[in-house]
Amino acid sequence: MTWDTHFYNRDTWNKEISNFEEKSAIAQKLAMRLTNDDIVGAGSGSTCFLTLQAIADRCEAENINVTLIPTSREIEMVCAFLNLPMASLLEKRPDWCFDGADEIDSDLRLIKGRGGALFREKLIMSAAKQAVIIADKTKLVEKLGQKFPIPVEVVPDALNLVKEQLEDLLSPKAIHLRLAEKKDGPVVTENGNFLLDISLDTIEKGTEKIIKSIVGVVESGLFEGYNPEIVSG
Ligand code: A5P
Repeated sequence: MTWDTHFYNRDTWNKEISNFEEKSAIAQKLAMRLTNDDIVGAGSGSTCFLTLQAIADRCEAENINVTLIPTSREIEMVCAFLNLPMASLLEKRPDWCFDGADEIDSDLRLIKGRGGALFREKLIMSAAKQAVIIADKTKLVEKLGQKFPIPVEVVPDALNLVKEQLEDLLSPKAIHLRLAEKKDGPVVTENGNFLLDISLDTIEKGTEKIIKSIVGVVESGLFEGYNPEIVSG
């Protein structure tokens, strides 16, 4: 038996979806890749939201079985509404995964984590045998960090230490604690941590490892060396 009430529905996302036409075309394209019994990591953000709708439509129309491993609470709720079966990484390993991105450079390095789900996004991409990034053309940049800072998820007690070490190691232009919009104080991630958004003049290769070397850093939204396939409109 399933619930007949849901907080998400087909027309609801957190806010207006930018570049809707292109994202919808990407969603349709991605859904056509699905084969029966696939186990698929499902990324977060509006392009993934539209893609899950296209996947649900195709599963229903063609009687395809799929299991999704969601990267966030947001996507768990969307899958629940769409009646898409879910599993966790404790049960299953994804055959492939899809996810959005905030920026992609020509070396296929990514900045992700605008939505704050960067830890599970990286975890699922690391676990999947193949990764596909679904990205409208606004995501392709000449220089990484042009539009988005790098989000860094930090254990709350380590906040000052991490900030100091980021300053020593990377001399950032700016470091901001991400503040919540409908709650006073910081954004608290799904793992109970805080986010520092860091802006660098140039993001040299190897920066992901440098950030990760600091005690108290859980993960960053900089993805280097994942070599994903890019599907755009
Ligand atoms: C979520 O944390 C991000 O990594 C998203 O994948 C990214 O923000 C993509 O967003 P849209 O698909 O909404 O443009």
